[in-house]
Amino acid sequence: MKVLIVGRGGREHALCAKIASSPLVQMVYVAPGNPGMASCATLLPYDEDDHQGLVEFCRREEIGLVIIGPEKPLVEGLSDRLLAEGIQVFAPSQRAAQIEGSKSFAKELMRKYGVPTAEYRTFVDFESAKKHVEESSLPLVIKADGLAAGKGVVVAQTHAEAIEALAEMLLERRFGDASSRVIVEEFLQGEEFSLMALINGTLVVPLDVAQDHKRAFDGDQGPNTGGMGAYSPVPQVSAEVIREATVRILEPVAQALSMEEMPFTGVLYAGLMLTKEGIKVIEFNARLGDPETQVLLPRLESDLVEAILSILQGRRPTLKWSDESMVGVVVASEGYPGSFETGVMLPIFDPGEEADIFFSGVAQSEAGELVSSGGRVYLAAGKGSCLEDACRAVYAFLAKHDQPRFFYRTDIGQRGINKSRV
Ligand code: AMP
Ligand code: GLY
Repeated sequence: MKVLIVGRGGREHALCAKIASSPLVQMVYVAPGNPGMASCATLLPYDEDDHQGLVEFCRREEIGLVIIGPEKPLVEGLSDRLLAEGIQVFAPSQRAAQIEGSKSFAKELMRKYGVPTAEYRTFVDFESAKKHVEESSLPLVIKADGLAAGKGVVVAQTHAEAIEALAEMLLERRFGDASSRVIVEEFLQGEEFSLMALINGTLVVPLDVAQDHKRAFDGDQGPNTGGMGAYSPVPQVSAEVIREATVRILEPVAQALSMEEMPFTGVLYAGLMLTKEGIKVIEFNARLGDPETQVLLPRLESDLVEAILSILQGRRPTLKWSDESMVGVVVASEGYPGSFETGVMLPIFDPGEEADIFFSGVAQSEAGELVSSGGRVYLAAGKGSCLEDACRAVYAFLAKHDQPRFFYRTDIGQRGINKSRV
C-alpha cells in the first residue's frame, strides 16, 4: 500500500517513520514535509492547502491511505474532498473537525452531552465580555473561538490583563475572524495531560498517555508555545484515570458527534486536567498532538497502519505499548515564540545517535546542509527503562550537540520523575 501523510512538522516526521516500518506499506509520501524527513518518506511539492494537487496526486498514484497531520486542512475540508474522490482517509470531516476549529462548538457539545469541562461563557460583544470579567474572580482564561496556532489562549491573573486580552481579540481582531467570538472560562487547577484516541464513529481506541510542556522556559515560566517537549508514559496519571477519561470523555464525545450526524473518524485529542473534582476537558484537537506524537509513536509496538485499517473497517485493534519511557525535548530558535533568526546550521548527527530525532522547522542550504527555518527546529527523544533514564539519555545527547543560537528546556519529564518519587 502507498500512504500519504499531509503536513511538515515533527509530528509528521514521527508518523512517516512509524508508517515506513509497517510491512503493509511500500511507499510513504509526505506533502510537503521537510528535508529532515527525506530518509523515511518521499517529499512532494504540494502544500497542505493545495487540495486539488493532493487529490490529483492520490488518484494518479493510487494512494491507499491518507493521514492528515495539522488542523488547518481538516477545518478547510481536505478530508471531505479526498473521500468524495473515493480515497481512503483517516481524518475527520470538516464538520467533525469543528471540535477543534470552534471552541464554542466544542463547549456547547460538552454542555449538551454532560461532558465535564471548565465553566464558561461565550461573547461577541466587548462591553458585555468586559462586564462579565469585572464581576468574575481570578484567574480567568480568555480564548479566541477559532484556530490561532496555539496562541489564542490567555491565562489572566488580573482583571486588567483579562480586559486587555478581550480588547485584542474582539476589538483589534488579533486573530482575524478566529477572534470575533471569545470564550471566558474558569481556570482549572491540577495535573494536565493529553489523551488521544483512534476513533471511527462510536469505536474509540485510546492511545497511551503523554504530557506536553507548553511554556517556553524551565519551571513552566514564560509565554505559551506550540509545545517545548513531552514525555510518555505519565506515572502520575494512573490506569484508572485513563479508563475514566475514556468512559466519561472520549466515548461520550464520539457518541455525541455521531448523534449530531457528524461522526468522527481519525485521532481525537483531549487536553485534560485532573482536578480535585475529577477530570475536566481543557480542549479538543481533531488530530495527533505535536510534540506528544514524537514520544508516543516510537513506544507503539503494534503496526499503526494495521490498526488504522482495522478501525476504518469497524474492528477494534489491540495496541501494544513498550514498557520503556520516552522523553522528547524540543530544540528551538533563540527568541521563539517571539521573533528569531533562521538559516542557522544544525549540528551534524551520526546515524548511530542515542536519541531519535524528529525535524520540524528545517530547510536545506545550497550546500545541502540542514538549517533552521522555524521556531521549533527539531525534537530529540531519549528512551529508557524509566523516565529518569530516558531523561538522562536525551540530555546527554543534547549536551553533546549544544548550539549557541538554539535553546531548549532542561526540565522536560521532571514533573513525572518528582511525582513518581512521592
Ligand atoms: P489550549 O490552546 O486550549 O490548549 O490552551 C493552552 C494552555 O492553556 C493549556 O494547555 C493549559 O495549560 C492552559 N489552559 C487553557 N485553558 C485552561 C483552563 N480553563 N484552566 C487552566 N489552564 C488552562
Ligand atoms: N501539543 C498540543 C497540540 O498539539 O495542540
